[in-house]
Amino acid sequence: MPALRLGSIAPDFEAQTTKGAIKFHDWIGDSWAVLFSHPADFTPVCTTELAEVARRAPDFAKRNVKVIGLSANPLNDHDKWVQDINEYGCKYAPTNVQFPIIADPDRKISELYDMLDAQDPTNRDAKGIPFTVRTVFVIDPKKIIRLTLSYPASTGRNFDEILRVVDSLQIGDKYRVTTPVNWKKGDDVIVHPSVSNEEAKTLFPDFTIHKPYLRTTPLTVE
Ligand code: BEZ
Repeated sequence: MPALRLGSIAPDFEAQTTKGAIKFHDWIGDSWAVLFSHPADFTPVCTTELAEVARRAPDFAKRNVKVIGLSANPLNDHDKWVQDINEYGCKYAPTNVQFPIIADPDRKISELYDMLDAQDPTNRDAKGIPFTVRTVFVIDPKKIIRLTLSYPASTGRNFDEILRVVDSLQIGDKYRVTTPVNWKKGDDVIVHPSVSNEEAKTLFPDFTIHKPYLRTTPLTVE
């Protein structure tokens, strides 16, 4: 199986989820998608992560991003665990998990996306078969993989960062800009190196030249 790189087409698959059977590409449709794996149901770090993703559902929706989780447990476990997650909630408020969670007990999709843990002996099922690490795939409406992340089972992800990257990708697709260190929506952006100073005068009238190769500009986006 060729490596999944930035720019690869996200492999299509059929799956059972907590919201019914899906064909992945059809489910994505014209949206962006975040596919994220978590090691196993009824585990503490994962419970906090899924509660947080449920809490941030409006932030994903307003960016036209659909979110889908995955773990290598069967559907009936997922259904029971979702009740626990909603009961636990998160530190801010009760949650209501509405996004689908893929059931992948035979690890078919985990293998397709190279998600399985090869290094943590505690991240395995009772038979010693690895669960997944915490991967994130940001996929655009053309089904192209635009971001990959892999976190160990022991470290919960930062979903603010994932939303921040989506903002950067969406702005970069629309305007000829890149985003600097620790950038967040509303901050100045960088004029793309492929834009000449002549073009920049028209495209970004308020741009500043700090170095010949480093030019920034305010950018008003909706
Ligand atoms: C957790 O979600 O807490 C977890 C899962 C597998 C291994 C270690 C931690």
